[in-house]
Amino acid sequence: MMAATDFVRIVEVGPRDGLQNEKAIIATADKIALIEKLAATGLGTVEATAFVSPKWVPQMADAAEVFSGVAKREGVRYPVLVPNLQGYERARAVGVTEIAVFGAASEAFSRANINASIEESLTRFAPVLEAAKRDGVAVRGYVSTVLGCPYQGEVPVADVVRVAKALHAMGCYEISLGDTIGVGTPRKARAMLEAVAGEVPMAALAVHFHDTYGQAVANVAACLEAGVRVVDAAVSGTGGCPYAKGASGNVATEDIVYLLDGMGFTHGVDLEALVDTGRWLSALLGRESMSKVNRARR
Ligand code: HMG
Ligand code: MG
Repeated sequence: MMAATDFVRIVEVGPRDGLQNEKAIIATADKIALIEKLAATGLGTVEATAFVSPKWVPQMADAAEVFSGVAKREGVRYPVLVPNLQGYERARAVGVTEIAVFGAASEAFSRANINASIEESLTRFAPVLEAAKRDGVAVRGYVSTVLGCPYQGEVPVADVVRVAKALHAMGCYEISLGDTIGVGTPRKARAMLEAVAGEVPMAALAVHFHDTYGQAVANVAACLEAGVRVVDAAVSGTGGCPYAKGASGNVATEDIVYLLDGMGFTHGVDLEALVDTGRWLSALLGRESMSKVNRARR
């Protein structure tokens, strides 16, 4: 049973997932300001950037400058994406202490996003996890396309379970299950989560919904009912993956905070400060916030 005081950890992915798909290059100073503003709202985890190939994602080319430039807050974690050893070494050179590797449940998406089959990707992550263990660096694992793939369509739940289990067995302390293209619906999302929880403890799982079909908040609610206590979100619903055509933004952090309040969960985030940050970012990007809560507070 859920206790009224249950704490939900929000993993804010706006500075990484939120910005990686932006066509116009955003100034490094603005990325740093975004991370600092988010950390000041009470969010305990702010995914800061991605040490990926700048040829693949030009927006993340300044990962080292962004990470180094952030005035770190005591108690806040600033993980970064790392696709391979080269990314790991770049990240370590600027003092990163938490990383995330990212794989997929669909072969076609794995090839499109990281230029590797699922098996090759796991082989590529192995030395990263070994190095991280040696260095005392925490590693999170993402599994993309858990409810559908832009190339292959349906993704069998068994494939999600297999990849999640493999990443957990390799040493990832938490597995984030990503509906990359935002096609999931609540019952399907819950069934997928519960299937994975049969092999990886629920306490080591997180959910990551994109909102393409407007189902993301409902999906998060269903997964919270099923027992998940870590939710990824991006301020004002920014985001999308450059290698998942047609996918829209992440579920908005403002909307998740409102949902958690309504469901009686604690989260430690100051909603008004978050709304202000969402407005600041929306003004920077020159468009309206995708967060319903943010718009309603106007
Ligand atoms: P590749 O082309 O096969 O790699 O890409 P390579 O090893 O052949 O290297 C190609 C070039 O990139 C070389 O440069 C390398 O040095 C360089 P060159 O010799 O041609 O000058 N390179 C790097 N440079 C800097 N940092 C690095 C790095 N690695 C290689 N780490 C690779 C393979 C994995 C590198 C590439 O496919 C890649 O970077 N992909 C990342 C794509 C990405 O960032 N996607 C978005 C994040 S995932 C996501 O959004 C989903 C998620 O949100 C969950 C969900 O929603 O489902 C997490
Ligand atoms: Mg994503």
